Amino acid sequence: MKPKVLVTRQLLPEVHVFLDRFLEVETGVTGRDLPHAELLQKVKEKAGLLSLLVDDVDQEVMEAAPGLKIVANCAVGYNNIDITYARRKGILVTNTPGVLTETTADLTWALILAVARRIPEAERFTREGKFSGWELDLMLGQEITEKCLGIIGMGRIGKAVALRAQAFRMNTLYFDHHRLSPEEEKHYAAAYAPFLQILSQADILTLHTTLTEETQRLIGRKELEAMKTSAVLVNVSRGPVVDENALAEALEKGIIWGAGLDVYEREPAIESRLLDLGNVVLLPHIGSASYDTRLKMAMTAAHNLVAGLTGKTPPNLV
Ligand code: DGY
Repeated sequence: MKPKVLVTRQLLPEVHVFLDRFLEVETGVTGRDLPHAELLQKVKEKAGLLSLLVDDVDQEVMEAAPGLKIVANCAVGYNNIDITYARRKGILVTNTPGVLTETTADLTWALILAVARRIPEAERFTREGKFSGWELDLMLGQEITEKCLGIIGMGRIGKAVALRAQAFRMNTLYFDHHRLSPEEEKHYAAAYAPFLQILSQADILTLHTTLTEETQRLIGRKELEAMKTSAVLVNVSRGPVVDENALAEALEKGIIWGAGLDVYEREPAIESRLLDLGNVVLLPHIGSASYDTRLKMAMTAAHNLVAGLTGKTPPNLV
């Protein structure tokens, strides 16, 4: 008999073909949220759960499924899972590292350039028929080349962002609890600097930390005030790393110049003041959203799930 699993949303067809070979799959809803109460119902009697980052896999969910052996998250981040409880109960938890690094670094750069060069604002202006000819001071933005890039969190994605910065001959500073070796610093052309120093020196500050108690609201009013008034802040990590209310205020008052966000503190809700501001570019959490990468993420989660339920060690245990 195949082990029973719950896949909380319809995934790409090839992933279901693979899963069906090994598992008895119940698929949750698609195109809408899976309410927590429904998740609690559906997970009962299941040995495995393939979750998305929007599924709150808390203690209650794991308690509802006494036979649960593995939660395979389809994301590199796993802050949506109560890891402490899972560990206590011996439930395996896996993620999808590696496969989304380049795609997320690309999106980071798309956001940096979009904010610095005011691309969405300029596009709206053009579409609205406001372009009446070249002007010396039309839509002036911030320069990127040879400026200072500050990277907070120098994991896979932070490093991939640093590599791309070399094309712009940037002075890259990074902060991470784990300092890179001199060889790595040379390879990524990035110098270690204390967090506060990066805040005050960066022309572009980009966040690539995981969400932990320590990084919750890492960027608040005080940190924003420490930044240059010409600085751009970009967040493609997790929304709660930035105090959205403080950011809205900083953008309104010109404490920093602009921001680009792909993630939000209370996702999918967005601080309403941000929606009214022209100096922030807002994206709907699409950091890893290329067809190839999303397929790789889902396939990685599926392989982890199958491994965990067929007596093998899943490749991406967290
Ligand atoms: C992740 O995997 O954590 C990303 O946020 C998905 O886009």
